[in-house]
Amino acid sequence: MENGSSEGAQLGELRPFRARERLLSVFPGLRPGLSNLSPLGPRANELSLEVTPKDTMPEPLVYLNGHLIPASQASLKIYDAGIVLGATVTEMTRTFRHALYRLDDHIARLYRSLKYTRMDIGQSPSEFAAASRELVEHNLKLIGPDDELGLIHFVTAGEFPVYAGSAAGSARTTPTVCAHTFPLPFELWAEKMQHGVHVVTPATRHVPPQCFDPKMKYRSRMHYYLADHEARLVDPDAVALLLDLDGNVTETSGANFLLVERGTIVSPTLTNILPGISRQTVIELAGRLGIPFVERDIQVHSVMNADEAFLSTTPYCLMPVTKINGVPIGDGQPGPVYRRLIAAWSEMVGVDIAGQFAAKPSA
Ligand SMILES: Cc1ncc(COP(=O)(O)O)c(C=O)c1O
Repeated sequence: MENGSSEGAQLGELRPFRARERLLSVFPGLRPGLSNLSPLGPRANELSLEVTPKDTMPEPLVYLNGHLIPASQASLKIYDAGIVLGATVTEMTRTFRHALYRLDDHIARLYRSLKYTRMDIGQSPSEFAAASRELVEHNLKLIGPDDELGLIHFVTAGEFPVYAGSAAGSARTTPTVCAHTFPLPFELWAEKMQHGVHVVTPATRHVPPQCFDPKMKYRSRMHYYLADHEARLVDPDAVALLLDLDGNVTETSGANFLLVERGTIVSPTLTNILPGISRQTVIELAGRLGIPFVERDIQVHSVMNADEAFLSTTPYCLMPVTKINGVPIGDGQPGPVYRRLIAAWSEMVGVDIAGQFAAKPSA
């Protein structure tokens, strides 16, 4: 595992993960042996990282290149390949009642993305999972009992040598490895969880699998950014549902798309979409509930004539889709299959998933 990165040099005294950070994680704000010093006392210069006013405030930790550091100190170089090239793979996992859901599945997908992009982060999936659990365990102490955390992993291709060479004289070309958390912003999705979201199919198409395989979860998202922008110009309540080059439905910028036709859940094939962990949960729940699930190419005509449709994704699990390109899907209301699935999912994790959103209305 990478040590002594240039980020480390910038931050001063960074120590290997699991040493003093463990103490900090248990007692945020506590500095053993320094507790009687004023935060800005005479030794302030010597103490660098350790003695800043922010330091006394509990704040989330971030895992960056093998170190656990306060979020306010976590930064990347401007010539990181994640910025220069968008060469980044990523994951997002969430908690239910403060327990991480399917972390091992997310880590396994991350490692498939890493293999595909030929990045080696020098640690095993179980080591990275353990570091992630430790990070989440700390950061959970900073949120309320009814809040939940999103856990983000991302890995970039390290520092872009051309720019790093001229700017800093040397480049770290080993991957940049980060895990961080954020409280799930329930209010962002509350209204749409209740009444449904609209989708619009924009002119911007999904990146064809001939360019790179969408089974990788990646951050080079300009096409999604443009597509969502286009969709909002048409309908401010819409997200983009991207088509492939042949006009088949793929996915949104952050979720898988599923429709219901005569009692069967229909998904696009895996040629053009991320194999979502939430989509996998839908497959498993549908199996238990006796609801057939099939994969096939889907066109806009089929979506307009579907009985219902919904999105699946980690942060909000399932969200009804009630309109496509201005046309109501089914009766334009969240449908019965959506309701059965979200009820079964809620029962499985011991959380009223839609209720978590309802409890926090839009600002
Ligand atoms: C493009 C895309 N498709 C689908 C999904 C849903 O995947 P998951 O259910 O694993 O969160 C995501 C999640 O962020 C995504 O970015």
